[in-house]
Amino acid sequence: MPGDDYLAVLARFHEWLKPESYVEIGVWHGDSLALAKPDTRAVGIDPFPQIQTAIGSRARLYPIPSDVFFCAHDLLHELGTPRLALSFIDGLHLFEQALMDFVNVERYSDARTIVLIHDCLPVVRCMAARERETGYWCGDVWKVAMCLTKYRPDLTLSVLPTYPSGLLIVTGLNPGSSVLRENFPAIVAEYRDQPLPYDYLDSNRLLDVLPNVIPNDWERIVQAVSPAAAD
Ligand SMILES: C[S@@+](CC[C@H](N)C(=O)[O-])C[C@H]1O[C@@H](n2cnc3c(N)ncnc32)[C@H](O)[C@@H]1O
Repeated sequence: MPGDDYLAVLARFHEWLKPESYVEIGVWHGDSLALAKPDTRAVGIDPFPQIQTAIGSRARLYPIPSDVFFCAHDLLHELGTPRLALSFIDGLHLFEQALMDFVNVERYSDARTIVLIHDCLPVVRCMAARERETGYWCGDVWKVAMCLTKYRPDLTLSVLPTYPSGLLIVTGLNPGSSVLRENFPAIVAEYRDQPLPYDYLDSNRLLDVLPNVIPNDWERIVQAVSPAAAD
């Protein structure tokens, strides 16, 4: 996948948006959380963080699973800001968890919030299985893009082919939407056993696989999210 990798794209979002607030689900070594600027209030959530990168002083780390965090805490209260500007979902790599992370983040979002979901474009089928078989593993988070396309046509979705496994960019969020929450068990049952619809990602077939694939070019990314950022 040519162009900036996902960390470079995330860094660009921090530079350009200068978000007042940022939540990250799945922190691991801290490489992505460390990209939050000193002026950004940041919350990182990970039950097993292994921080190896210096994290800014305004970032708060919660060493608990995301479901537990959203059960026990009010995200905006923990951030100390009136709104959520930017989110990065990169936690447990199972469809139902990534979808629930999205549902929880959307509760605190508004029409200008930008949500990035990692691992939505696995290159080969073996890295996209529900059971981990490979060193680098995306799991079946890719189903979130398909599911949101079907159940949330009100959202604006852009799929970015960025190394190593793509980013889904979501804007137009609606904290009042209950479609996913109310139909959660049925949606999970519908997608859970679906196989990745390709063995190996051929760049010529990208547009057949997922809708709204945009080039990995910063100007095109800004265009894709600008209606949200400008509101
Ligand atoms: C791929 S790593 C995150 C990488 C990091 N975002 C980066 O770009 O450097 C995934 C992380 O998700 C964490 N994780 C697993 N289950 C989780 C859950 N239920 N809630 C939040 N994080 C979870 C794991 O502990 C792991 O550190």
